[in-house]
Amino acid sequence: MTPNEHDGMISNMNSPSQFSQSLVGTKPYIVGSAGMLGRAWRQWLDAHNIEYACGDLGDIDITDPASVESVIDESHRVVVNCAAYTNVDAAEEDEDRALVINSGGVENLARHCRQINAKLVHYSTDYVFNGCSDTPYRPDEPRDPLGAYGRTKAAGEAALENSGADYLLIRISWLYAPWGKNFVRTMAKLTSEKPALRVVHDQVGRPTSAESLVEATANLLAHGAAGPWHVTDGGQCSWYEFTQAIAELCGASCDITPCTTEEFPRPAPRPAYSVLDLEKTEQMIGPRPDWRVNLADVLNRLESE
Ligand SMILES: NC(=O)c1ccc[n+]([C@@H]2O[C@H](COP(=O)([O-])OP(=O)(O)OC[C@H]3O[C@@H](n4cnc5c(N)ncnc54)[C@H](OP(=O)(O)O)[C@@H]3O)[C@@H](O)[C@H]2O)c1
Repeated sequence: MTPNEHDGMISNMNSPSQFSQSLVGTKPYIVGSAGMLGRAWRQWLDAHNIEYACGDLGDIDITDPASVESVIDESHRVVVNCAAYTNVDAAEEDEDRALVINSGGVENLARHCRQINAKLVHYSTDYVFNGCSDTPYRPDEPRDPLGAYGRTKAAGEAALENSGADYLLIRISWLYAPWGKNFVRTMAKLTSEKPALRVVHDQVGRPTSAESLVEATANLLAHGAAGPWHVTDGGQCSWYEFTQAIAELCGASCDITPCTTEEFPRPAPRPAYSVLDLEKTEQMIGPRPDWRVNLADVLNRLESE
């Protein structure tokens, strides 16, 4: 099958310029716009000349219903929530705060979106699953988080489902961008500075380029998608394999050796198998770019820390 035949089977609306049209006039409000994904959204909307509004803590606090109501009005037909408590390890000691943001905040946004009849786009995580599977997690699979962060994100998903709002819930994993705090930037730095590194090889997942994710989200919105979906880059790898690729593409000579999760304990438990199933998504918007392709693109534009 040639790419053109495949594209034709999936949709006529497969180029960014075509699906960005569906956001024109919706004046999206980007919440958490200073974060890694929030910046990717701002850049994509700027690049497509789409009018939008945005805010981060200081402009809008999603844990405060009055703040949400005062900032997001009926002119915004789409609200994109990129705000979250994202420190997985810190959440183990700070679960109450994480819950207020990752569940209470989502509940506030969803209630307000239902009142003003706006569509809410929300992002969640592979951490809502226990990682014990050996086949990819489908979007409708039951949640069973291992740690505090996953529990708070799972509670946010449940709040969204019970809200009565029109929502698009997108689970992602291993998010990275040329900016922000992420594994790719950390490892690009470490592999160029250190002669040797050990990286866990018994956790497998799917990296997600934030920029590619924004484009996929806009494409799903253009297709009228609602409910739970999964978006990641294509393919899968372990953290060790991901690091090897980062070092190779950066031309770093660091000696990278695999180790086990047991040898590298962290405060929060990590799911061993974090592969999100992409079948439903790929049927709607076409094949996801392989993670190596997105990684090379991001590394070309990596911002120094
Ligand atoms: N990063 C990953 O690997 C990953 C993986 C799977 C899923 N996700 C999900 O993807 C989404 C985006 O993640 P990200 O990495 O882009 O997050 P991020 O860089 O940590 O950005 C989150 C933003 O939300 C802001 N925020 C925190 N509390 C807020 C509140 N009460 N009201 C308004 N804004 C608030 C943060 O401000 P402060 O910095 O000042 O707190 C920050 O600017 C999140 O839903 C996350 O759970 C991320």
